[in-house]
Order: sequence, then C-alpha cells, then structure tokens
Amino acid sequence: MKEQLEKIEALAKEELNSCKEIKALDDLRVKYLGKKGELTAILKQMGKLSAEERPVIGQLANKVRADIEQAITEKVAVLKADAQAEKIKAESIDITLPGKKQSLGKLHPMTVVENEIKDIFMGMGFNIADGPEIDDDYHVFEALNLPPDHPARDTQDTFYITDNILLRTQTSSVQVHVMETQKPPIRIISPGRVYRSDAVDATHSPLFHQIEGLVVDKGITMSDLKGTLEMLMKKIYGNNCKLRFRPHHFPFTEPSCEVDISCFNCGGKGCSMCKDEGYIELLGAGMVHPKVLEGCGIDSNIYSGFAFGLGLERMVMGRYDINDLRLLYENDLRFLEQF
Ligand code: PHE
Repeated sequence: MKEQLEKIEALAKEELNSCKEIKALDDLRVKYLGKKGELTAILKQMGKLSAEERPVIGQLANKVRADIEQAITEKVAVLKADAQAEKIKAESIDITLPGKKQSLGKLHPMTVVENEIKDIFMGMGFNIADGPEIDDDYHVFEALNLPPDHPARDTQDTFYITDNILLRTQTSSVQVHVMETQKPPIRIISPGRVYRSDAVDATHSPLFHQIEGLVVDKGITMSDLKGTLEMLMKKIYGNNCKLRFRPHHFPFTEPSCEVDISCFNCGGKGCSMCKDEGYIELLGAGMVHPKVLEGCGIDSNIYSGFAFGLGLERMVMGRYDINDLRLLYENDLRFLEQF
C-alpha cells in the first residue's frame, strides 16, 4: 500500500507538470483527490491493514493528499500568472512607434485674397452683401438695363434653367437685390460665384468668381470710384502699381470704364504676361445708370452711385504669378501647399 501511495503521488505530479490549463487542473483534482478518486479508493482499503500499519499508512496518505493539494494550488498560481502576462503582452502599446502625422490645412489662395479684399472694404465702411446664384431674368438682365436682344442673354453664353430662371452671369444682379431692399446711403461689396457657358482653358472657366461693389449716396462721382479702386489696388499690389481707366460700355453704368493695372510681372514695360501692353485688365466699372436706380425706386435726381465688378481669379493669378486658371480649381495639394 505504501508503494501504491507513492506511485499515486508520482503520477499525479507528472500529470500536473504537463498541465497547461486551469480547467485540466480541476479534472486532475477530481481524478486523484475526489470522492471516487484514486487516493480515496486506497484509503477505503485501510480496514484490511494491521493495527501497526494503519497509522503509518494513514499518515502517509494524508501527506500524499496534502502534497498533491499543494502542488495543484501552486500550479494554479503559475498558470494564472502566465495567463496574465500573456494578456499584458498582447495588450501592450509600443510607445516608441511614430504617431500618425496630422497635417494642418490652410486657406485656398482664392480665399486668402477674397478675405484681404473684404478687410480692405470693411475698413472703408462697406458691408458684405449676399445674393442668389440661381436668379431670374429680371435681376440678372432686365433690371440692369440689358435689353432682350443683348448678346449676354444668348443661350450660348448663359446657363438657363427655365426661360426665366438662370445661373447668374455676373454679380451685378446683387446690385438690384440690394437697392430693392436698402435705401441710400449704400456701401456694399458682394463676392460670389458666377457662371458662363465657356469652354475650359488657361483663362476661361464656366464657373468663376467676381466681387461686385456698389456705392449709392448723394453726390457720388467718378472720382470716388477712382479713389476707392486705387486704394484697393495699392493695398493689394503695393504702392507702385498704376491704374488705367479706359472708356467702355456696360448697359447698367453710364459712363462706363474698364480698369487695367500696371503689369504685375514687368511693372508696365511690357512682357509676355501682359502681351507687351504693360497693363492687365482687371475689372469693369462705372456710374450706376439712372434707369437702374429708378427701377429700384431710388430717385436719380437726388442720388448717384458707382459700381464695379472685378474678377477674383485674375486678382489671385496676378498676386501669385499663376499662369493657368485651372490650377485654382483642381485642388492639387502640390499646388495648394505653396501658398
Ligand atoms: N458685371 C460686369 C461684368 O461682368 C462688370 C461690371 C460691374 C461693370 C459693375 C460695371 C459695373 O463684366
């Protein structure tokens, strides 16, 4: 019986050593120490022993039980610690790994220049006005004294939605919206998108941006227009830039002019950028036509005004020496990151 007990202990420990899961340890406990276990089976035979042998074997049996019990407890602790270590390892974060780079966005060059222009005009007491991009024939053409047979109304040039509704071809429509709702003194600029049915090339796009300006008050003259535009251009292009006012025709201004600026590239001497002109055309302007004022309910005997519409893309291209309009719309980061 002594050998049997020793054999049980040896077997139990061997099995214990190869145990890799806590669940298997429970099975092992039942197998050796349980009510129907191997140790119990031996103890049941104690009755057959002599009176001298019984305490010796009894003591040994208790020791074997305690040893196996302790070995199992220790193994449980080891397996638990292993499992914990495994878990920590699996969940660990390598703090030496480089982080994901967050790149900081920046304003589009068009937005930069638009904001600058807004700041300059706000400094001169102008408000910013907004108007619809989808408008009716009345606001885009009729109220601006553009007769029905005017070429700007041609379906070739204009995106019509219905006979009466269209994408505005010019921000001048905002002049009408403003004068319908505000009474003089009026001092606004209105930046926004305009649409013309043009094919895309280096200087044309069916969508582009204008900034409209409108001042209506008592005693407004052409010199107010000149002074205002000179102030704008000197702030944007520096004190050396020169403006040239050329007579022109717009149906909604009288007199009308086109305004050129001395070439950003050559300063007026003539180069390939200005096609040897020395000047680059930037905007259309003039004194608001009395018919337009009257149509909006403003007495042209009391009030006069000037208006201008400048192409934002041109301003930006001149400012940053960009030679292709398309670059402004393609949103290629290699281009945009340069500003
Ligand atoms: N709307 C004109 C254009 O698009 C520009 C302009 C605006 C001219 C205001 C005179 C006054 O060409």
